[in-house]
Amino acid sequence: MTAQSVNLTGLDLRAEIDRLRKERGAVILAHYYQSPEIQDLADYIGDSLELSKKAAATDAEVIAFCGVKFMAETAKILAPEKIVVLPDLNAGCSLEDACPPEKFAQFRAAHPDHIALTYINCSTEVKALSDVIVTSSSAETILAQIPADQKIIFGPDRHLGGYLSRKFNREMLLWPGVCIVHEAFSETELLKLKAQHPGAPVAAHPECPPHIIDHADYVGSTSGILNFAKGFEGDTLIVATEPHIIHQMELALPGKTFIGAPGADGQCSCNICPYMALNTLEKLYLALRDLTPRIEIEEGLRLRAKRSLDKMLEMAGGTVGQGDLGAR
Ligand code: 13P
Ligand code: SF4
Repeated sequence: MTAQSVNLTGLDLRAEIDRLRKERGAVILAHYYQSPEIQDLADYIGDSLELSKKAAATDAEVIAFCGVKFMAETAKILAPEKIVVLPDLNAGCSLEDACPPEKFAQFRAAHPDHIALTYINCSTEVKALSDVIVTSSSAETILAQIPADQKIIFGPDRHLGGYLSRKFNREMLLWPGVCIVHEAFSETELLKLKAQHPGAPVAAHPECPPHIIDHADYVGSTSGILNFAKGFEGDTLIVATEPHIIHQMELALPGKTFIGAPGADGQCSCNICPYMALNTLEKLYLALRDLTPRIEIEEGLRLRAKRSLDKMLEMAGGTVGQGDLGAR
């Protein structure tokens, strides 16, 4: 049954979600790209590494994951005894779609002397085919620990891989996936915006293409960008990532101005993640009420995927909370 086919008129959804959260012993985890109304009632908000760690450590019996499917699957891989629900199972990711496991397996087989360093934005099957998973906040710490002569396949985000490759001056074989949200920023419109706000720094996510990164004063994960916003001294910051993160900036720094980087139309509506936007308060309410849609993963596959995630958690060490790829 979908949220659309259920009559929820008259329900105080926030109060009901709160009641069900207690009744179910549930924790609500939300990514920074969720709508402000979901962020406001989450128990924890974070970047993908922080949310993975939170899922692995929680005592809650139920995890209501407000994010996209690969994030909820990561929670299930790390916490198999928990019930993990995702308000909308169609909340995918263009990076996951760009990397079908069969093709990735063939690519790996064609390069047997390479290890696969893989962005967490991928399917459980691709995690199972990988050696080490990285997030945007842990990638640099992890790459620094891999011997310089070790050949690397990096997938599925060619922009994050390219950014790391340039920063570390290290060749990597890049899988050709992109995030459709970060891909949509326009350099021309960004330059116009910078001209209108002289001196305003630009903070960018490393999923942005190089022509956007080249204009950034800071590059980092969602948590890293948020930390940068909390520390910068000016009045105005241009934010080149999914604009829902600006909600946390406005809550933390009410006197400052945060402007989402524009797309080709000069606006930023094209930069809202359409997958994240599938989760709504209504669907979260139904997920807690019915404990569905649930994430289920076959045990053999889960164990194979867990190896590369465990490696990430081991190698990322204290990276959590910094969310930081640092200044360029
Ligand atoms: P973070 O790891 O920075 O939260 O990024 C996740 C993501 O999907 C960005 O598009
Ligand atoms: Fe995937 Fe991009 Fe959406 Fe992140 S913003 S979930 S990378 S499509």
